[in-house]
Amino acid sequence: MFFAMNRFKIATGHETAFEDVWKNRDSSLADNPGFKEFKLLRGETVADEGYTLFVSSSIWESRDAFLAWTKSENFRAAHKNAGDNRAMYLGPPKFEGFSVVEGA
Ligand code: HEM
Repeated sequence: MFFAMNRFKIATGHETAFEDVWKNRDSSLADNPGFKEFKLLRGETVADEGYTLFVSSSIWESRDAFLAWTKSENFRAAHKNAGDNRAMYLGPPKFEGFSVVEGA
């Protein structure tokens, strides 16, 4: 199993707008081979740096299944508006990918 996580620093005051982008998106992730699960996670607010942390977490059967999605038309379509709303973001998202070592 492979976890693909993208961390977003969202400027204070823009949290609800950012959540709405995700809630209202037109998702076809479930159509992709090897896709298992998606969650948008809200983390801590770091008041003195003016942001709230969010993570988009997608779980795949394998790293190869994830990589195939990143090269697909489906990925491109899912991100065609991702550059909008720049004011929400403190910099670009940070991607981290993890292979499962052990766990139920
Ligand atoms: C390897 C890097 C990336 C991964 C793994 C990733 C992962 C994902 C996933 C799983 C979705 C949901 C797609 C769906 O439901 O169909 C998504 C959508 C989205 N991603 Fe990414 N993403 C990446 C790069 C980026 C970058 C660079 C941005 C820049 C801001 C971004 C911003 C967004 C936004 C805003 C959405 C919601 C789409 C919408 O507007 O409806 N992503 N991403």
